[in-house]
Amino acid sequence: MPRITIHDFLSKKQQGAKITMLTAYDYPFAQIVDEAGIDCILVGDSLGMVVQGLENTLPVTMDEMIYHTRLVSRAVKNALVIGDMPFMSYQASVEEAVRNAGRFLKEAGASAIKLEGGAEVSGVIQALTRSDIPVMAHIGLTPQSIHRMGGYKVQGKTDDAARKLLEEAHIVEDSGAFSLLLEAIPADLAKKISGELSIPTIGIGAGPYCDGQVLVLHDVLGMFDRFVPKFVKRYANLKADALAAVRAYKADVERGTFPSDKESFK
Ligand code: KIV
Repeated sequence: MPRITIHDFLSKKQQGAKITMLTAYDYPFAQIVDEAGIDCILVGDSLGMVVQGLENTLPVTMDEMIYHTRLVSRAVKNALVIGDMPFMSYQASVEEAVRNAGRFLKEAGASAIKLEGGAEVSGVIQALTRSDIPVMAHIGLTPQSIHRMGGYKVQGKTDDAARKLLEEAHIVEDSGAFSLLLEAIPADLAKKISGELSIPTIGIGAGPYCDGQVLVLHDVLGMFDRFVPKFVKRYANLKADALAAVRAYKADVERGTFPSDKESFK
């Protein structure tokens, strides 16, 4: 199977085929996601919460993102790998944004980057696109704006807020983004945005009408239970399975039933 590119994203939208996307942060899970045939792996800054145990994504650094993206790229044969720009890696200046985004392609094997924001990042999206760094934009609930938003809340619920999000969607498309992630917005608004844009939309908590869907892998596999957003569907309960396995090992060692002859050398 050939490597997925940003052009396949556009073709899928044009053909009405759904784009599949999940996060991954290390070699073994990236290998599983890739082998399953998922189109795109996002090395999300959500790793701050689900891997590093942080309260939010703000402390995640560029060096940490590069490290995790490298682990993922090493495992992936087909999926498009996208590196997520962490808080303060693109806000201070366009030059800094270009340099940091370039690191994902140059040092970590990613083929594109994602960043949060609409009109306020349109200059950055233009500069990255001019530098041949494909950009996935991200509007709606943008977790790096948690303090301004006052928490993880559904966005675009009033007519005014919905109109503003629709405008932002057009701005990021016009700035050169190859796709747009829509997080935690009403399904009808996501439908309108997806219908008006020619670039594909990827939804998380944005209903069924987006051109593709993304979830955080640790939510899908039941490995993160600090909180479970309404939009998550769990397909496994790996935390419970891992807990049972580790408890069984502990009991075997304590009872003296591990190692047995089978696991011992003569
Ligand atoms: O960091 C992340 O994992 C994200 C999600 C929206 C998928 O941005």
